[in-house]
Amino acid sequence: MRAGVIGLGNMGSALAAGLLNGETLKPEQLLLVNRSSEKVEAFRLRYPGVRAARNNKELAESCEIIFVCTRSGEVPAVLREISPVRHGAHVIMVNAGLDLSAIESACQGAASKLIPSVTMEIGRGVSLVCHGKNVSAAQKADLEMMLGSASMVKVVPEGDLNAATELTSCGPALMAEMMHQFSMAGVRHGGFDEDEAWAMVLETLVGTALTLEKGVTVEDIKGRVATKGGITEQGLKVLTAELPAVMDHMMMVTMAKQASVHGELTKRLV
Ligand SMILES: NC(=O)c1ccc[n+]([C@@H]2O[C@H](COP(=O)([O-])OP(=O)(O)OC[C@H]3O[C@@H](n4cnc5c(N)ncnc54)[C@H](OP(=O)(O)O)[C@@H]3O)[C@@H](O)[C@H]2O)c1
Repeated sequence: MRAGVIGLGNMGSALAAGLLNGETLKPEQLLLVNRSSEKVEAFRLRYPGVRAARNNKELAESCEIIFVCTRSGEVPAVLREISPVRHGAHVIMVNAGLDLSAIESACQGAASKLIPSVTMEIGRGVSLVCHGKNVSAAQKADLEMMLGSASMVKVVPEGDLNAATELTSCGPALMAEMMHQFSMAGVRHGGFDEDEAWAMVLETLVGTALTLEKGVTVEDIKGRVATKGGITEQGLKVLTAELPAVMDHMMMVTMAKQASVHGELTKRLV
């Protein structure tokens, strides 16, 4: 099987690296194209054997799986260039902006949406997937197996994709900012600098994540740290009272932005 990645920016390169590092694909099975060729050449230096296509059409004509990893504004033009895709090809849209039915009708073939995480490059994080009605059982299985070597695959209904995207794909940036704010509160109230505070927070974050990953629940870990009437309990009271409103506000704003991108892209595809 040959897979191709169109658009080798943050996401395309993390995806390509994740698939190669996870050993689902051999370098010679991967074909790349990017608007400016330097990114492809830099990637090929890191992964010898990976091939470059001359343009999007050529890539689409030689691959069974075609990952479209350009920014949303470029998606309608890329879809026009690669359509109609050849029989048996599977287009994977790494962008939630268009409905699957619109993508399948534009490419006249099978299409799925994939919302990966940049953490795929290190073999972790969640790949959200939803499949169009033209995707065969074998195509679903091939894609999910391919992604599973570099991430946890979660198949979601298309209607749930936007909220799930906030948790998993926007998640690395949102979680990093939350931890940054936590660390800066330490700087404002302690005698250390930003680097010292960040080193302490980062190590605590990794230790907490690994503990939770072993099956310890949030309630368990809170119970172990926060003794009744103690200091942590006071901090938890503030967080549980004030954070839900902040999180709801963030979700409403980001989902409104997703809806406006969807409307804009749908207009540009027709
Ligand atoms: N970043 C994330 O964490 C993340 C997560 C999930 C989904 N996504 C989605 O992934 C997509 C890409 O995001 P990104 O952060 O990777 O953006 P990015 O870093 O700007 O990468 C986009 C790449 O596409 C290339 N490109 C643009 N037009 C092209 C065309 N017509 N043909 C071929 N290549 C073209 C660009 O080339 P140049 O070098 O010439 O600019 C650039 O390298 C977006 O749709 C985004 O919503 C991103």
